[in-house]
Amino acid sequence: MEEIGYQIYPQSFKDTNQDGIGDLKGIIEKLDYLYDLGITLLWICPVYQSPFDDNGYDISDYRSIHPRYGSMADMDKLLRETKRRNMKVIMDLVINHTSDEHFWFQEALKDPEGPYRDYYIFKEANHGKAPTNWRSVFGGSVWEKVDDNFFYFHSFSKRQPDLNWENPKMRHDIYEMIEFWLQKGIAGFRVDAINFIKKDQRFLDGLSDGNDGLVSCFDYCRNQKGIELFYQELSEIFKKYDCLTVCETVGVDYSLASNLIGESGCFSMMFDFNYTNIDIENEDYFRKRDWTIKEYRDALFLSQNEIQKIGWSAPFLENHDQPRSFNKLIHNSQAGNQAKKMLAVLFMLLRGTPFIYQGQELGMENFKRTTIEDFDDINAHSQYKRAIEEGFTEEEALSFLNERSRDNARTCFCWDNSRYGGFSDHEPWIKMTKEYPEINAKTQIDDPDSVYWFYKKLVHLRNNQFHQLLVEGLFEANEFDNENVISYRRVLNEASLCVICNFSASIQKIPYIDHDQVIINNYEELQICDEQLCLQGYQAVVLFKFKSYNSLQE
Ligand code: NOJ
Ligand code: CA
Repeated sequence: MEEIGYQIYPQSFKDTNQDGIGDLKGIIEKLDYLYDLGITLLWICPVYQSPFDDNGYDISDYRSIHPRYGSMADMDKLLRETKRRNMKVIMDLVINHTSDEHFWFQEALKDPEGPYRDYYIFKEANHGKAPTNWRSVFGGSVWEKVDDNFFYFHSFSKRQPDLNWENPKMRHDIYEMIEFWLQKGIAGFRVDAINFIKKDQRFLDGLSDGNDGLVSCFDYCRNQKGIELFYQELSEIFKKYDCLTVCETVGVDYSLASNLIGESGCFSMMFDFNYTNIDIENEDYFRKRDWTIKEYRDALFLSQNEIQKIGWSAPFLENHDQPRSFNKLIHNSQAGNQAKKMLAVLFMLLRGTPFIYQGQELGMENFKRTTIEDFDDINAHSQYKRAIEEGFTEEEALSFLNERSRDNARTCFCWDNSRYGGFSDHEPWIKMTKEYPEINAKTQIDDPDSVYWFYKKLVHLRNNQFHQLLVEGLFEANEFDNENVISYRRVLNEASLCVICNFSASIQKIPYIDHDQVIINNYEELQICDEQLCLQGYQAVVLFKFKSYNSLQE
């Protein structure tokens, strides 16, 4: 709860053996950088054995490290080195599916009568066709043909067969694997796509919602009734080790959140995506939404208020599946650092454990690519194909990817302004389209006015000066008649911090808010005119009041 989280995408963090791929030794080398920033908890994306169909989220051996990242000895060293710095490590737990190269799946294919067949979901063909018309998350049917009679099920890529959670033996093996890692001394897990583990057992067709004749699988294999029994079993294991878990649960209705978090929930905290995918419908990049600042504010505040009633959340601006926040949320390329700092203030003071995604603290931005071949991510290719199927031109399809593709966040971390950003001496595994004179760690550490230093200040507030207030304080929305400003308070006992963010490029006025001290300001001053606060474009301030007030009208 008290932690400050930082997400590492290992492939793109730091390469130490000059093969163009980040590695565990690279993370170890940069621990002091993270420690200096004030990070106390690391989430490390998958480093297990994998054929990398979905960049490691397709695991072929849960208990070993892929050689591209190093060895188990490196992992052990990373755990020792983090411990020495009082930092915790959580790993990705991907248990909705495995890779098709996993031993269990290979056995299941080889021997339809054998014990591993039922570790996955095999179904008989429906008059030679797929058993249902459900569309997988990465496009195409959820069913892949094995022979004339059988198909197997995959929510994501066809190389990620879903595990059959109805099978207690499979669940037992997964629980043993979880214990293996907890016994190693990791602090817990970020739990991948966990609300997919139960499927609608009726396996019925749905009404098609696209030109491919298929229907999104979400209504049939996400948040299904009965999933709470699997959550309860999992939580018994987690409790034994008192570990920290964050669930990735896209598309969860708050009425179901008590299965996930709080007293009766399975996980310590949740990543809530209800405010994250504000710019698109149903997770399709080509279904763009015209969202307003007010809508965004309402979604964010609903999340804070609803989760506050139940348990704990993990607010985030970015992750490896999202575009960079500056490009997604600020539609003004001139806005620059002030807007990046404004987003930082908005998120870092919310109730919950904040997670920073690597490079966010430098204000890293999306990449523009000019051809589909330059995209690495499996989902980029599928979204491109689907956009064209839905009648968009190639140019339009490409522009959706440039805005939304997961590759935007997966480019290499820039440590300095040298070739390949100091990430490696070798050409990186993912295309870098330009060098970064300003958006790199070294330049920003040397500049006290940088986005990096601003993040550091905010982290420091939470770790030190306002630790108790920011960890324990309640969230309260500020209401006033200005739809361009997002403002809230964190309140504990007699004290409160008031966050005010001007989400627009123009000057915005709001009623004066009484305060004892300006704690954070991304401008030199806070102007007061006509007894109102007069906020500059993208200005963000944090005001401290020792004796709290209940309403702004007071
Ligand atoms: C969510 C992960 O964050 C994403 O990267 C991955 O593709 C899917 N789950 C499938 O594991
Ligand atoms: Ca390497």
